[in-house]
Order: sequence, then C-alpha cells, then structure tokens
Amino acid sequence: MTACEPERNSNGNSAQLSTSGVRFPLKLVAVPSKDIGVNAALKAETDPSFEVKSRIFDEFALPGQVAIVTGGNGGLGLEFAIVLAEQGAKVYAIDLPATPSVDFAAAVKYVKRLGSSLHYRPSDVSKQEVISATVREIAAENDGKIHVCVAAAGILGREFDCTDYPAEMFEKVMDVNCNGVFFTAQAVAKQMKQQEIPGSLILIASMSGSVTNREMNWIAYNTSKSAVIQMARSLACELGPAGIRVNSVSPGHIRTKMTAAVLDDQPEMEAFWASLNPLGRIGAVHELRGVIAWLASDASTFCTGSDIVVSGGHTIW
Ligand SMILES: NC(=O)c1ccc[n+]([C@@H]2O[C@H](COP(=O)([O-])OP(=O)(O)OC[C@H]3O[C@@H](n4cnc5c(N)ncnc54)[C@H](O)[C@@H]3O)[C@@H](O)[C@H]2O)c1
Repeated sequence: MTACEPERNSNGNSAQLSTSGVRFPLKLVAVPSKDIGVNAALKAETDPSFEVKSRIFDEFALPGQVAIVTGGNGGLGLEFAIVLAEQGAKVYAIDLPATPSVDFAAAVKYVKRLGSSLHYRPSDVSKQEVISATVREIAAENDGKIHVCVAAAGILGREFDCTDYPAEMFEKVMDVNCNGVFFTAQAVAKQMKQQEIPGSLILIASMSGSVTNREMNWIAYNTSKSAVIQMARSLACELGPAGIRVNSVSPGHIRTKMTAAVLDDQPEMEAFWASLNPLGRIGAVHELRGVIAWLASDASTFCTGSDIVVSGGHTIW
C-alpha cells in the first residue's frame, strides 16, 4: 500500500482515511469568548469603565427569541412554555385541542403581565405535513425565526403485558412519542438552518428510555422514549455543524394528567413510585423549570447530544 492509498478494513472496505490519517477534513470552529466570569474579573482589573454586575441571569435570558413547545396545553409542556416566556421569549404552544385549556388561558394572562406573550396553535405532531405546516406558519409570523423548541407532546398508552400488547396501541404510542418528536424537530431544524440560527432543540424523553419502570408494563412507552434519547444524539451530530444544539431531558415520575391516569386508579402507586428514588417522593412540574431554562439558553452553549435525567435519583439505584 502506498502512502496515498486508502486503508482497508478486514472486509476490504475503504476506511476513507486522508493522506494525513485524519478521517475528515477538519474545520476548526472558534471557541466563543465572552466577558463573563473570570474574563469579566480580568477585564474589570484593567478597564475602569467596564460595568461590574452579575451576569449569570443574563446568560439565561431569551430576549427577542421565538420558542415552540409541543404538548403545551397543560402538564409539563405548559410549565415549559411559561419558563421560556419568563426568560423573555415569545412562545407558541402546540397541542391537539382546537381550543386551549382553562389553565392555558390563565397562563396567557400571567405571561402578558410579565411582559411576554404566549400563543396557541392546534396541531398534531404525529402527522408530518400537519406539524411542519404549523411550524412554517409560526416561522412566517416571525420573519422565519425560531430559536428554541421543546418537543414535549407525548402519550403513555395503556398498560398491557408485552405478549398481548395490541399493535394499534404500540403504533399510536410510537406515532406520537417517536415520530411526532422527530417531525417536530425536523420542521424546526429546517427553519433554523435556513435562517442560520444556532438554536436549541430539547426533546422530552423519560427515565423510561433508560430504565424500565418496575411493575409497570409500558413496553411501547419505554421503547419510544429510548428512541427519543438516541434521536437527540443523532440530531445533535447532524445539526452540530450548523451550530444547532439538541439534547433530551428525561424526567422521572412527575404528577401531571399523564401520571394521574394511573394514580387516580391506583393511589397506592404514589408511595411505591416514591420509594424507588432516594428523595422518597415523586416530582412536581416546576422542578423541571431550571433544566429547560438552562438548555434553551446561552448558559448551556457547549451542551449537545446529552440526556439530562431529572428523576429524584430514580435511575441511580
Ligand atoms: N409526567 C411524568 O411523570 C413524565 C415523566 C417522564 C416523561 N414525561 C414526558 O413529558 C411529556 C409531557 O407529559 P405530561 O406528563 O405533561 O403529560 P400530559 O398528558 O399532561 O401532556 C402531554 C400533552 O401532549 C399532548 N399531545 C398528545 N398527543 C399529541 C399530538 N399528537 N400532537 C400534539 N400534542 C399532543 C396532549 O394533548 C397533552 O397536552 C411527555 O412527552 C411525557 O412522556 C412525563
């Protein structure tokens, strides 16, 4: 083999090595530099005109940004919509009903009083053409710009033994939780790429994508959430060169309409679920606020392809 001949593996396939032995031509992206933290302290030493003030909350701010939250009519999605609005974004919640909930109406008024705005668009994430049209319409209202997307729409599906799990139910859970998250991310990423916006996509997975919920026969849900975690990694790889970050968030047991469907029927389940994490309780929707604020903002600019588990420690036992 000469120095320029591609190296071949044991199957005889070319590994496409360049002459320098590097797999791809490297393009060095500049490391961002900001007057925050130690840099700010050093600047303050030499520049008397430099304003000394805490900048940590500015890093979390999303002024002038546009955010989309699917499943935003209630539960975790509505909480995420309010967080992003509190950070200064104009937020669009997407969900199935033609008219949003009473909670949503209260959130609209609350957000308005905070100086931001919250809007509602009915759509179905499991239908590629439908959700992509909704995303295009939102973009068109905002000069093509979407900066943040939280794909939170999801369903649990009913409990069945794996040997009896009905095909129709399995497909439905996958349609919403897996395909729907993909169609949402795909439509938003397209807009971000077109506009060259280094946005943030946050895919709501679940701890059920990494561990199986003890005593709960949720084969379709668990499978779909595993897919979301891997989807985030895969999207992060493809979209990283465009500066777009993609992460997944994996909540543990949180009291919402989704979990109420189980807890209302079997109240003893709450104590059982609580016993499965070291904090000894299930979580509340507001306990996901920080992670969403962080991933959506410049406070997390070097985080992509990660799965952030917020489970009260459920997965460490
Ligand atoms: N609650 C928990 O314990 C928990 C734990 C881990 C992960 N999650 C995930 O968090 C996300 C939010 O769940 P939640 O607990 O707030 O449940 P929820 O039922 O309160 O909210 C889910 C929302 O998604 C919407 N939705 C369902 N199908 C849709 C579709 N095809 N198109 C558009 N919207 C659709 C629903 O109408 C609903 O408003 C889900 O992805 C869920 O799997 C929840």
